[in-house]
Amino acid sequence: MSDIILETRDLTKHYGGVHALEGANFVLRNGEHVAIMGDNGAGKSTFVRQITGVEQRTRGEIIFDGKPVNFSGPLDAREAGIEAVFQTLALADHLDVPDNLFLGREKTKFDWLGPFRLLDYKAMREDTLAALEKTGVKIPNIRNTIQNMSGGQRQCVAIARTASFHSKLTIMDEPTAALGVQETAQVENIIRTLKDQGEPLVLISHNMRQVMDLVDRIIVFRRGRIVANLNKNETDGQDVVAYITGAKTQPEYDVEGVA
Ligand SMILES: Nc1ncnc2c1ncn2[C@@H]1O[C@H](COP(=O)(O)OP(=O)(O)O)[C@@H](O)[C@H]1O
Ligand SMILES: [Mg+2]
Repeated sequence: MSDIILETRDLTKHYGGVHALEGANFVLRNGEHVAIMGDNGAGKSTFVRQITGVEQRTRGEIIFDGKPVNFSGPLDAREAGIEAVFQTLALADHLDVPDNLFLGREKTKFDWLGPFRLLDYKAMREDTLAALEKTGVKIPNIRNTIQNMSGGQRQCVAIARTASFHSKLTIMDEPTAALGVQETAQVENIIRTLKDQGEPLVLISHNMRQVMDLVDRIIVFRRGRIVANLNKNETDGQDVVAYITGAKTQPEYDVEGVA
């Protein structure tokens, strides 16, 4: 039996002549928390967009939960069990907070009077408040549409959504880049909770302290390619930066990582 939850083989995305992602071989095990680091433009977000079906890849294979997958979009990926917080937030401006949280998986209650499914707004509002409490973010009125919220509040709504459903895999693309110190600490607590619950995570972050605190393994992207696969306990910030800048290279990085 394999404990691999996600694998990519030769995952590649070209935008015309731009080779944004080239031949990415990647493995993530159940329960493992892995960071992806790399300079701006290294291909990190492109990698996430191919996995979650936001875009269709140029070539390569994606195996999720033991099966080859071709998601048609993020809702499709979510249905299969992948929760993603994208760098550019995929929230619906015109909806309020509960509607955003439950987008694509609205709670229903049984209607005794007829064959219709009724949306259970009360349950959704209660779950929303519980989820927001986990992120520690203060949102005065969750019934307001989210278009007027601050970047930090919006990010917390997206992360609350991730944290409030058991998923097979969570992917966060720079989740704390726009957040203040306190909100960042809350998000890091959510990530620790996912770890305690054995839920695997891919975390894209530029924050070395955060990465060293939170993850088991670090993957470095450079110019569209994976150039290093580092066990957190066998590396340090300086070493990682050397791979990010290209000062250091790993001749044959080890896809499987350290068990
Ligand atoms: N839709 C697009 N069309 C053309 N080029 C793109 C597109 N999206 C990303 N790129 C390019 O692909 C490369 C990787 O981008 P990206 O994955 O966003 O990097 P990162 O997330 O590591 O900062 C960059 O050179 C970027 O300009
Ligand atoms: Mg990015």
